[in-house]
Amino acid sequence: MRVLVTGGAGYIGSVAATILIERGYEVSILDDLSTGHTELLTPGAKFINGSLLEKATVLSALEGVEAVIHFGGKSLVGESVQKPEIYWNTNVNGTRILLEAMREKGISKIVFSSTAATYGQPKSIPITEDSQTKPTNPYGASKLAVDYMLTSEAIAHNLGAISLRYFNVAGAYQAKSGWLTENHNPETHLIPNVLKATSDNPLKIFGADWPTEDKTCIRDYVHVIDLIDAHIMALDKLEPGKHEIINLGCGTGYSVKQVMDAAKAAVGHQIPSVIADRRAGDPAVLIADISKAKSFLGWSPTRDLQVMVFDTWQSQNASNK
Ligand code: UFG
Repeated sequence: MRVLVTGGAGYIGSVAATILIERGYEVSILDDLSTGHTELLTPGAKFINGSLLEKATVLSALEGVEAVIHFGGKSLVGESVQKPEIYWNTNVNGTRILLEAMREKGISKIVFSSTAATYGQPKSIPITEDSQTKPTNPYGASKLAVDYMLTSEAIAHNLGAISLRYFNVAGAYQAKSGWLTENHNPETHLIPNVLKATSDNPLKIFGADWPTEDKTCIRDYVHVIDLIDAHIMALDKLEPGKHEIINLGCGTGYSVKQVMDAAKAAVGHQIPSVIADRRAGDPAVLIADISKAKSFLGWSPTRDLQVMVFDTWQSQNASNK
């Protein structure tokens, strides 16, 4: 079976394309390389260099495809506040064009990369799929809009869809062609920043006055390999006319200080850090309820925080050589 991976030159998409090929799927990748990297492209996959916003390109990328895993889109919270129009266009309009093209080609299976940012500030922890969705930024709002789009497309046009709402994706994958890892510019994510910290450029801890045990923010980290396993399991669970929404995390929270401790164990020295102001829009605690992922997909995460930090560290070392 051939799967189209949109955003396959990005961090998560490249791990998906690689693992799909390793498991015997045929893969096409559609990516405009606006934030992706050619060196992350999977050997053996068919690459289409183009945008979700160009319908003719999307139609040609769908050639011979049976299912789509849709990662392509913009994913920076801060940028989405500054330039919301890009998020509405790429994430929402891009997906609308993709669904239109899929309809024309008679392709009715999609797994979508949604986010915990659709929930906003949670009223209670852990967050279930039935928790209130009240995003606090245009990034989360644009992903929530796509979730609604998929629900209506499933009802009206018999699409089989699953939205996977990621919490904090971390770690790296060592493919035969090299490490597939996070390489955002600018890098905003905690784990790569912790590992890059030096005494000249210490990690900024965004707030040490949160209502948590050690006063730093708590997040639910999930290894990118576990995350992709869930996508592949989701491909087998797609049913015409149904749209499911499923959280993906570990179901456990770690504070910024606990992440720094895990990094210290990996690198063998203290992580240089300074306390900075809280970052606008950060909630104190985000932890997923992952019971639906377990019961519906039969999925459980198997790699803990220490593995995520260690893999990211190894991948950073390899790319610095
Ligand atoms: N943090 C720091 N210093 C840094 C970077 C992060 O203290 O240099 C803290 C943040 O304040 C936060 C935690 O580390 O408490 C994790 O921050 P990340 O930026 O790594 O991740 P977020 O939780 O902000 O964001 C993640 C995804 C987003 C998604 C969001 C949904 O990366 O795409 O979860 O909840 F929108």
